[in-house]
Amino acid sequence: MSIIAPLKKVQDVFYFLIGFLLGFLLFFLLTQNYHQLIKENFKKKLVPRVTETSVPQITNITSTDLYEHELADQLFNEIKILCWVFTHPDNHKKKVPHVMKTWGRKCNKLLFISTKEDESNPNIIALPVENGRSHLWNKTKLTMKYVYENHLNDVDWFMRADDDNFMIMENLRYLLYQFHPQTALYIGCRFAIHFPKTEEGYMAGGGQIFSKKAIIKFNEISLKNTSYCVPEDSELDDVFVGRCLKDLAIFLDGRDELNQMRFFPIGTEEHMKHEAIDPTFWYSQYLWRNFSQGGLDCCSDTFIESHYASPQEMHMLDYLIYNVHPFGLQKNLTETLPRKLSIEEIIKRSDEKSFAANYQEHRRNHQIDEDEKYRKKK
Ligand SMILES: *[C@@H]1O[C@H](CO)[C@@H](O)[C@H](O)[C@H]1NC(C)=O
Ligand SMILES: *[C@@H]1O[C@H](CO)[C@@H](O)[C@H](O)[C@H]1NC(C)=O
Ligand SMILES: *[C@@H]1O[C@H](CO)[C@@H](O)[C@H](O)[C@H]1NC(C)=O
Ligand SMILES: *[C@@H]1O[C@H](CO)[C@@H](O)[C@H](O)[C@H]1NC(C)=O
Ligand SMILES: *[C@@H]1O[C@H](CO)[C@@H](O)[C@H](O)[C@H]1NC(C)=O
Repeated sequence: MSIIAPLKKVQDVFYFLIGFLLGFLLFFLLTQNYHQLIKENFKKKLVPRVTETSVPQITNITSTDLYEHELADQLFNEIKILCWVFTHPDNHKKKVPHVMKTWGRKCNKLLFISTKEDESNPNIIALPVENGRSHLWNKTKLTMKYVYENHLNDVDWFMRADDDNFMIMENLRYLLYQFHPQTALYIGCRFAIHFPKTEEGYMAGGGQIFSKKAIIKFNEISLKNTSYCVPEDSELDDVFVGRCLKDLAIFLDGRDELNQMRFFPIGTEEHMKHEAIDPTFWYSQYLWRNFSQGGLDCCSDTFIESHYASPQEMHMLDYLIYNVHPFGLQKNLTETLPRKLSIEEIIKRSDEKSFAANYQEHRRNHQIDEDEKYRKKK
């Protein structure tokens, strides 16, 4: 054995030590980073989703499966909606609980407007009106006043619905994301009608959406002036809301960019018929914008309102929309929020040509306050 062998051994040990040290250092650095990463992600997950500024709930929203989806969850906190649902004493047990169990729990505030209180359900509010269709207009005016006086600062948006409506609240928030509640907006299925002072039309009964500013103008201007709001009671509540808000709010049909409908005041079923729509059917005279009958082009993938749903149908829709997933089909996970629209773009949309037989030509007169104009935050 020469002297080279032990020398090589020393060298080997030296290289081994260097290698070991480097390896250890690398391992240490990587695992530290890894732990850090896990910690940060963990922290992110632990951030409470309900922020301090969120509205106290009237209903106890306890269900943990309310939203599986983070984005819908964030929108719930960002786009706060008070839902008022018209009902009457006969339906307190028959219909109200089913709205509460399905879409109603996705409202930031949920009120049922009736003519009698119900000690078993604090969400039911009694207003001093008589029961029955012929008193719907008084009921609407009193409700407008009630939400203005009691809940104006709790939410940004207000939705009127009936106890036989089914709503997809996530899609409503997606639509409203484009707008600013300080602009007076009035949204739904826009109808045209031959009636004095209703040339801008009105949103069909069922689901109607009002921005906070629209509620303010309704109470502070329209209700006080008979040239806007009709004083006598009536069953034409939806037509008269349109008359009260004419010129004061911007009227918008809730359909999507493809001109497909999202609000269905007569339900969705009628639109799925594969034969031409009967031109004498009253509905086709009223619709502000026409739609493609027969086939899926009629109806938006992000539909919001369906009307005339029995409690059973409500649960069925809830099941089909939120639970059924065809096996092997991937959901599109690249969902993007829409752009916020400028006031000019909103007006342009509102002034779109109507195809309704009932449409009355008229001069537009948008009375828009300075503070209603949406500007980007600096
Ligand atoms: C909400 O939850 C609280 C505490 O669990 C309970 O006392 C209250 O009765 C609940 N309210 C409703 C409307 O269920
Ligand atoms: C009511 O509204 C009309 C139309 O905007 C207006 O000309 C009139 O001055 C108003 N009346 C009152 C009492 O404010
Ligand atoms: C409806 O409201 C008007 C105006 O507030 C009132 O004079 C009338 O008595 C009300 N009608 C009913 C049936 O409550
Ligand atoms: C709506 O009606 C207009 C005019 O009649 C027509 O040109 C258009 O194609 C119709 N749109 C749809 C979606 O049916
Ligand atoms: C998924 O959604 C994005 C954005 O909305 C769209 O561009 C894309 O085409 C969709 N992909 C599929 C497979 O539908």
